[in-house]
Amino acid sequence: MVADCGVATAAAGKSITRTVRATRIMASSAILADLNPERTAPPLALYIHWPFCVSKCPYCDFNSHVRASVDQDDWRDALLADLAHEAKLLPGHRLSSIFFGGGTPSLMEPATVEAIIAAARDHWPAADDLEITLEANPNSAEAAKFADLARAGVNRISLGLQSFDDRALAFLGRAHSADEGLRALEAAQAAVERVSFDLIYALPEEDETIWSATLDRALGLGTEHLSLYQLTIEPGTRFATMVARHEFEPLDADTSATLFEITQERTAGAGLPAYEISNHARPGAESRHNLAYWRYQDYAGVGPGAHGRRTGMRTVRHKKPENFLAAVERNRHGLVEEEYVSRNEAAQEALVMGLRLAEGIDPSALAERLNVDRIVDEEAVDRLVGHGLLERGGRLRTTPRGRLLLDSILAEIAV
Ligand SMILES: C[S@@+](CC[C@H](N)C(=O)[O-])C[C@H]1O[C@@H](n2cnc3c(N)ncnc32)[C@H](O)[C@@H]1O
Ligand code: SF4
Repeated sequence: MVADCGVATAAAGKSITRTVRATRIMASSAILADLNPERTAPPLALYIHWPFCVSKCPYCDFNSHVRASVDQDDWRDALLADLAHEAKLLPGHRLSSIFFGGGTPSLMEPATVEAIIAAARDHWPAADDLEITLEANPNSAEAAKFADLARAGVNRISLGLQSFDDRALAFLGRAHSADEGLRALEAAQAAVERVSFDLIYALPEEDETIWSATLDRALGLGTEHLSLYQLTIEPGTRFATMVARHEFEPLDADTSATLFEITQERTAGAGLPAYEISNHARPGAESRHNLAYWRYQDYAGVGPGAHGRRTGMRTVRHKKPENFLAAVERNRHGLVEEEYVSRNEAAQEALVMGLRLAEGIDPSALAERLNVDRIVDEEAVDRLVGHGLLERGGRLRTTPRGRLLLDSILAEIAV
């Protein structure tokens, strides 16, 4: 599964009830807003992209670059300017999460991270439980910085362990050993309260026995959140070239599907069920930031190649670090494009995102929020419910079997 580093009109009677209920909610929220306007402001997720890595992993198509040196002062100033620009265009929000993604944000100086968090808090009022995540690589030099990053305000670390096996780590081109990974996990758990780690599975020749043992080990390490990604061969990566040259064969689809099923069973059995296709958490420990993508809420994207979603608008920034810096120098922001998203397009994006979640979507609430007549083709939904791939209750969601076929389901039910 690709990683991340996201509807019929209601019957007349129902919409009357909804209107009455909505009026009551509006009245009570107006009273609340008088008491504390910040509490009722719409939530905002803020994504900051750090585009540098120590080396480029052969499977990775994220916007990550290797550079001999990176001037932290220049980058702090550029990110702060880009952030200030985005903040001007997104007033009246309440900051609910900040996510430092990459690339390898654990290569950032803690002082740079601290300056960005302070600026974000100046731009928007923050939720009391503001979630601040930083993606970290488990090299020892970076693990040594976790305590300082926590002092800078980071309260959640997402660690890219990828595997517990040195041979698999070498295949994945990782710059750390399995032991280093486990020591980094301990350092992360000592530094912050909330820790998640990533593993990549469905490697060539991986089988049920190997992956089940890895899963058991992962579930015994005491984190409340895990991201478990099937290896995907992304176009343009070194792995894509190697596969084209028959240097290795990706795992076959049947075994991959079996490993996915084992993943669902074991994680659910251990109390960390999938809340999204590749993400597992103890209820309440989900990544609030990523939930904002999948629930189709607004988010600001700052830094090279970062995407953002301002209501009705998609924002795209310069990808190449040098182009981004030059753009900020010229314009005081790194935007390359702001594109209006039509209501129907937004509805389809929200459907694609929402069905990744175990909670699924509420089709009529979503249609109302996005101001469209319908989000799905009801006849196609009925057909797929009949085939056991979708289920309806108050919400529309995929069944465990359907989750394996999400792309085909979306192609059928989109309007
Ligand atoms: C932005 S990346 C990496 C963060 C950090 N730099 C690292 O490597 O640990 C987020 C996650 O995506 C996953 N990932 C990236 N490319 C992938 C691919 N082709 N197949 C499966 N998982 C992938 C990895 O697990 C990785 O940790
Ligand atoms: S370290 Fe992470 S972001 Fe960088 S190339 Fe490897 S997987 Fe991609």
